Amino acid sequence: MVDDRADDAGQTYGGANAAEGMKRVRIRHFARAKEQGIRITGLTSYDFLSASIFDRAGIDFLLVGDSAGNTVFGYDTTLPVTIDELIPLTRAVARAAQRALVVADLPFGSYENGPDEALSTAIRFMKETSAHAVKLEGGVRSAEQIQRIVRAGIPVMGHVGFTPQSEHGLGGHLIQGRGAAAEQLLADAHAVEDAGAFAVVLEMVPSAVAAKVTAELAIPTISVGAGPHCDGQLLVWTDWAGLSTGRIPKFVKRYADLAGTLAEAATQFREDVEQGVYPAPEHEYPE
Ligand code: KIV
Repeated sequence: MVDDRADDAGQTYGGANAAEGMKRVRIRHFARAKEQGIRITGLTSYDFLSASIFDRAGIDFLLVGDSAGNTVFGYDTTLPVTIDELIPLTRAVARAAQRALVVADLPFGSYENGPDEALSTAIRFMKETSAHAVKLEGGVRSAEQIQRIVRAGIPVMGHVGFTPQSEHGLGGHLIQGRGAAAEQLLADAHAVEDAGAFAVVLEMVPSAVAAKVTAELAIPTISVGAGPHCDGQLLVWTDWAGLSTGRIPKFVKRYADLAGTLAEAATQFREDVEQGVYPAPEHEYPE
């Protein structure tokens, strides 16, 4: 969303170096980005330091994803993640973000029981974390929940295609919307838009199908493995920065090798301590 023009209220918003002097990215900027063909950028974040760095780099939104289940807590899936686990992470990210819009992910089991439960969970995140929006998974099946939350004044980001919270129902990590399933994907994306969401994540969807959804929807589409034709791109930061060491999905471009850098630094530290090289005189306090 690299655009430094002032908005109606004289506020400016923009990409790189945006945190200094730039005002908060709002959901209206998402709508405007789509109208103007300006691409939106998002990364997940789960802590204060990474969020500060991404915010200063001009990333437009930070998602405190339930992918924290894998990246922070070491679970096999996102299913065990709880509201109580995500709240402190979201609070830390919101404290760091001067410009980026912070989106809190609603974990599995916190909204499926219906609109009342969904609204209560969304209110909890908004009150206790200072996030600016919430995200939840599901298209047609989650439309009533989205509508209820939006009517209460809370912005909602939808999430269709591969939805990790239903990975067992979907039969594994499978690409969604292929062949005849494209119709259902379109119906899900429209349901999210009609329910009032300000944007929708398309995860692991063929590029051509994502292009069709993007052309049909008035709200921005955010790709996570849905190709280049979406209005924005989102990645899990630990995959993108090479901190995750397991299998990385095909759609991820690695921009750094943090696992390699940290492993090298830890090995060097161990060797320095073992050999008496660290601490050196410059690291000591004089009397
Ligand atoms: O939890 C998460 O990180 C997500 C993104 C992958 C969309 O939901």
